[in-house]
Amino acid sequence: MAEAEGPRPPHPSHARGEPRDGAFPPRLARSARVPGGRPDRGPGWTGREFEVTVGPVAHGGHCVARFEGRVVFVRHSLPGERVVVRVTEDRQPGYCRADAVEVLEAAPDRVERPCPYSGPGRCGGCDWQHVSPEGQRRLAADVVREQLTRLGGLDAGDPVVRDLVVEELPGGPLRWRSRARFAVDRTGTPGLRRHRSHDVVVLDDCPITVETAALAVLSRRWPGAGAVDVAVDSAGAVTTTRLDRRGVPTSTRVLQPGEDVAAAPAGRAGRRAAGRDWEVEGTGFWQVHEAAADALVAAVADAADVRRGETVLDLYAGAGLFGGALAPAAGESGRVVCVEADAGACAAAEANLAGLPQAEVWQGEVDAEGLTGLLEELGRTPDVVVLDPPRAGAGAAVSRVLADTGARAVVYVACDPASLGRDVAVFRAAGYRPAAVRGFAAFPMTAHVECVALLVPSA
Ligand SMILES: C[S@@+](CC[C@H](N)C(=O)[O-])C[C@H]1O[C@@H](n2cnc3c(N)ncnc32)[C@H](O)[C@@H]1O
Repeated sequence: MAEAEGPRPPHPSHARGEPRDGAFPPRLARSARVPGGRPDRGPGWTGREFEVTVGPVAHGGHCVARFEGRVVFVRHSLPGERVVVRVTEDRQPGYCRADAVEVLEAAPDRVERPCPYSGPGRCGGCDWQHVSPEGQRRLAADVVREQLTRLGGLDAGDPVVRDLVVEELPGGPLRWRSRARFAVDRTGTPGLRRHRSHDVVVLDDCPITVETAALAVLSRRWPGAGAVDVAVDSAGAVTTTRLDRRGVPTSTRVLQPGEDVAAAPAGRAGRRAAGRDWEVEGTGFWQVHEAAADALVAAVADAADVRRGETVLDLYAGAGLFGGALAPAAGESGRVVCVEADAGACAAAEANLAGLPQAEVWQGEVDAEGLTGLLEELGRTPDVVVLDPPRAGAGAAVSRVLADTGARAVVYVACDPASLGRDVAVFRAAGYRPAAVRGFAAFPMTAHVECVALLVPSA
């Protein structure tokens, strides 16, 4: 389905690679060394329009096309489509970035965008509004497969790669986001940033965010703020946290359901997952998708298969979600150690694990040194290690220490498949192999995907 992207002047010749300003043939600007800076390539192809056939999806919310010997990363497109692109950024010799501004031959997965703010040059919050939910999951699976082969070194025919699917979470592709950060412009008006820009696109609503949370931020002005964080808990209470222009939180307020004036002081929010309630610091980490905590706990428990008496490490534990959910299987003869750096998250984890004598919280950094010390103090080999690091992944040093433990199962929860791929390569070199990898559509409409990988000793 071809779609209009707003008013555009007629351009009969752009399809043949000719820019409208007549500067044809365009040349790459020659690199000129800027004192103290990187080479200034000038505008290069920026603004140029041409027609391409879109190739495979790549990590980051775009597809790959080629034009005149260069790679073009095309947003707002789908593999196999014939589109007109407009170059939005040309800073590297090897590639440039572009938006598909007209669809000449649409892929079967293309749909009308449900969000009026998305599209070329508009809000940069979503990548796949123009793709059916099933199509989004197929794209995400392709990206995970690519990272596991290219970075993780797995064979494309390995069943872990070949059979990988990205599973749907309940609730549909809209209104799933229970936590969000909105930007605020110099006039105090909230919105979201344009793709790869500091510009704030002013919004009345964000259809992927839970409505009460979106409106709590977007229906008012925030003079002097740089951003506003918002989170809605399982009872519907909405916490907003104002941040200054350096990103420092300055004030927090909580709105209970049905109220439009702050009625309660800021405190811990209540979340429900895995059949029980959890306390979370207002700004502390919790899975963003309302259904993700349940789905990930089930996947981690399935992969870990914790047995009575076992020792479990829950690294990057946040409020103790995985450790708390696995502790009953380890029983009182087992031991579950949750490790987390953030003091507020540790306090919430302490509260969440209070009724589980086999579970404890250690506040500290998960790095090679800290982990080595922790393992010494633990005095026994962990049977199961669960790790859920931030986007950058655990890294090579931590992965090597974990592989050296000889744990019978390492369950790696990853929000970036590239980091997972890099760390899987380290585990493989250290004697582990991925026995299963599951993907979860925990961020519909965006290019993000959550994975749960089970790594086991190769021998
Ligand atoms: C992706 S969250 C996972 C939280 C938890 N597993 C959950 O699902 O709710 C990552 C957590 O790791 C913590 N963290 C980040 N870097 C860390 C480090 N080097 N050592 C320990 N904790 C860290 C963050 O504070 C955050 O709570």
